Amino acid sequence: MRASADLWLQRPLLLQQLLLQLLLQLQRGEGIYWLGLASRGVPASWNHTQHCKLLHALAPDQQQLCRRNLELMGSVVQAAELTKTACQSSFKDMRWNCSSIQSAPNFSPDLAKGTRESAFVFSLSAAVLSHSIARSCASGSLPGCSCAPAPAEQASADFRWGGCGDNIRYGLQMGSAFSDAPLNSRRSGPPAVRLMHLHNNAVGRQAVLDALETRCKCHGVSGSCSVKTCWKSLLDVGHISAQLKTRYLSATKVVPRQMGSRRQLVPREMDVRPVLENELVYLLSSPDYCSHNAKHGSYGTTDRQCNKTTSGSDSCGLMCCGRGYNTYTEQVEERCNCRYHWCCYVTCKKCQYTVERHICK
Ligand SMILES: *[C@@H]1O[C@H](CO)[C@@H](O)[C@H](O)[C@H]1NC(C)=O
Ligand SMILES: *[C@@H]1O[C@H](CO)[C@@H](O)[C@H](O)[C@H]1NC(C)=O
Ligand SMILES: *[C@@H]1O[C@H](CO)[C@@H](O)[C@H](O)[C@H]1NC(C)=O
Repeated sequence: MRASADLWLQRPLLLQQLLLQLLLQLQRGEGIYWLGLASRGVPASWNHTQHCKLLHALAPDQQQLCRRNLELMGSVVQAAELTKTACQSSFKDMRWNCSSIQSAPNFSPDLAKGTRESAFVFSLSAAVLSHSIARSCASGSLPGCSCAPAPAEQASADFRWGGCGDNIRYGLQMGSAFSDAPLNSRRSGPPAVRLMHLHNNAVGRQAVLDALETRCKCHGVSGSCSVKTCWKSLLDVGHISAQLKTRYLSATKVVPRQMGSRRQLVPREMDVRPVLENELVYLLSSPDYCSHNAKHGSYGTTDRQCNKTTSGSDSCGLMCCGRGYNTYTEQVEERCNCRYHWCCYVTCKKCQYTVERHICK
């Protein structure tokens, strides 16, 4: 291994990049195989360690975590499901719309390689997993944890800490153990790709930390609020997904570089600066996802619906990549003119509307 690492350094730059490209082609997205847990036949209750073996979507290190923390697996399955819906909902108006996540653990190249899209999905899945565990602690469904301890920051004069906060510390600890486990093994791919995924997982967890807000409840005579209790609660997954989508849009392309004895990822542009801790990074540029290309994991936007009146990413110009669109009219029926009758029912009329739909050529 040492010899090959040294060789790597001595190659001329071009050859080094070719080698890197070749290695990147071999990736299959092992770190997020666990997203496949949702669609597979997972046991209804996790009461037997044999169940861990049945889960082919788990990497070897995750199987060990599964055996030691069976009670966590419910949160893992829930996180896999939430990750898929949040990703698709955040990207429904984009050319790449996250539909390929449904085929987990068999990923197409858009998610199997070190792309910007895989950067988003890794960070989101790491975030959602920590989020799910932190919430499960507070809801009392995990034996190993409960409500978060009172925050270290001083409560002010008008409230005291109380209630039941989401246990973010436990969530981050167990979530990172599980999400990062496959990436700490050499089997899971070349160092540059593992570094990329580990970094993006950490960006996701940082987004969870940033999504903590203080919620309060008033007590006292008829809501006088003479006593106020507050706790730290996590914003929902949709909010975190939206934050990470912003990071996706401004993600940075990086290259691996040897710094002394350590390999690091540094931005590809000339300015020498370290990668920021809230910055998503990727190694391989993506196609524009305009046309079908299975080799690049691009489904193309033919037959996608576009919006004629917006200038956003789902506008017909951007979505259809300049190919133009067909317009169809469709009849939709809705309840309308609803009236409330004392007591206690509502009557509505049925109204028919004609809507125009624009579909990319
Ligand atoms: C495990 O769960 C299954 C299904 O709920 C149940 O039938 C079985 O008795 C449980 N086994 C133990 C050891 O609790
Ligand atoms: C996402 O894109 C795929 C491929 O173009 C398409 O089949 C699917 O209907 C799209 N999903 C949504 C929600 O637009
Ligand atoms: C198109 O975009 C406009 C402006 O953002 C929005 O009001 C409208 O609901 C969208 N139409 C469809 C069909 O999504």
